[in-house]
Amino acid sequence: MRVLVINGPNLNMLGKREKDIYGTLTLDEINQLITDKAEELGIEIDFYQSNEEGKIVSKIQECKEDEDFIIINPAAFTHTSIAIRDALLSVKVKFIEVHLSNIFEREDFRQHSFVSSIALGVISGFGHHGYIMALDALSNLQK
Ligand code: DQA
Repeated sequence: MRVLVINGPNLNMLGKREKDIYGTLTLDEINQLITDKAEELGIEIDFYQSNEEGKIVSKIQECKEDEDFIIINPAAFTHTSIAIRDALLSVKVKFIEVHLSNIFEREDFRQHSFVSSIALGVISGFGHHGYIMALDALSNLQK
């Protein structure tokens, strides 16, 4: 199983950015924890972060329906991007949507996601553990 973890805008600022909401770990530190878990589960893992919507769309377009799974935190693009939704639909790759914070207890504008209705599932509010939970969920799909 091959899993691509995609993180959207401003998630490269984790560790510095609104620590009370997003925690103190940097994205590199989180990715290391995900790598450790992936090794344990025998999952091949890859990471991509971009602050640019079009780059995320292009990265999604490289994925293959039969080989890949995606864990995506589209960050602010969650609430704005029909392009990312369309890219996910176009490749038909199964994916899990992850948010560090619980978007449903935050501002109104964060409570709508353009990708939730086409995701396998949504994990929101468990900090960086959400990525680990998503990996576990994907590995269980195969069993
Ligand atoms: C986020 C929630 C989004 O509303 C926000 O724009 C982010 C991060 C989260 O992980 O909690 O950048 O996706």
